[in-house]
Amino acid sequence: MSTNRPLTLKLRKFLLAALLVLICVLIVHWLNEQNKPWIVPEEYKSLKNPLLPSESVLSSARQIYADECAQCHGEHGKGDGPEARTHSPLPADLTDAKRMATVTDGEIFYQITQGRRPMPSFKRRLTQDQRWQLVLLVRSFSQPAAQTNPSDNKQP
Ligand code: HEC
Repeated sequence: MSTNRPLTLKLRKFLLAALLVLICVLIVHWLNEQNKPWIVPEEYKSLKNPLLPSESVLSSARQIYADECAQCHGEHGKGDGPEARTHSPLPADLTDAKRMATVTDGEIFYQITQGRRPMPSFKRRLTQDQRWQLVLLVRSFSQPAAQTNPSDNKQP
């Protein structure tokens, strides 16, 4: 019995070291994943939205958004839905005009289509048309003026 005690001790130390290394590797991997920019293939970036913004398109998009997106992205796209805090990374703030100005419609379409953990993919859940409607709605979050009647919005 006593002869294999040193061995168990060695084994334990080895296992502990291996566990620590594994934890470090996982943390580094996780941090890497968190900070990775969302790469969108070129052929998607240049896609044009086949739909034009109109009140009827936006209102059906709002319906889909309330069912599928608002729990994370919040009612007005601020990223403050009731589920938002349980996710890492946090849901993006879709009202941030500066950030949204840097993405094309095609990129937003791709992001909705593919998803990225924790955001699900909507490729099967929504039709292509519905996804393009959502692109228009997402755009309207960072351009509140586009949502209102143009005549309310006269230049001085
Ligand atoms: C489970 C929560 C969740 C749901 C549901 C969800 N999203 Fe997201 N969404 C996220 C998270 C988290 C990110 C950030 C992902 C990242 O940066 O890796 C994100 C990112 C995005 C982005 C990219 C914004 C950017 O510039 O980074 C868009 C656009 C978007 N979501 C739209 C939608 C739409 C539209 C829906 C509904 C069809 C939806 N999301 C449903 C969690 C969610």
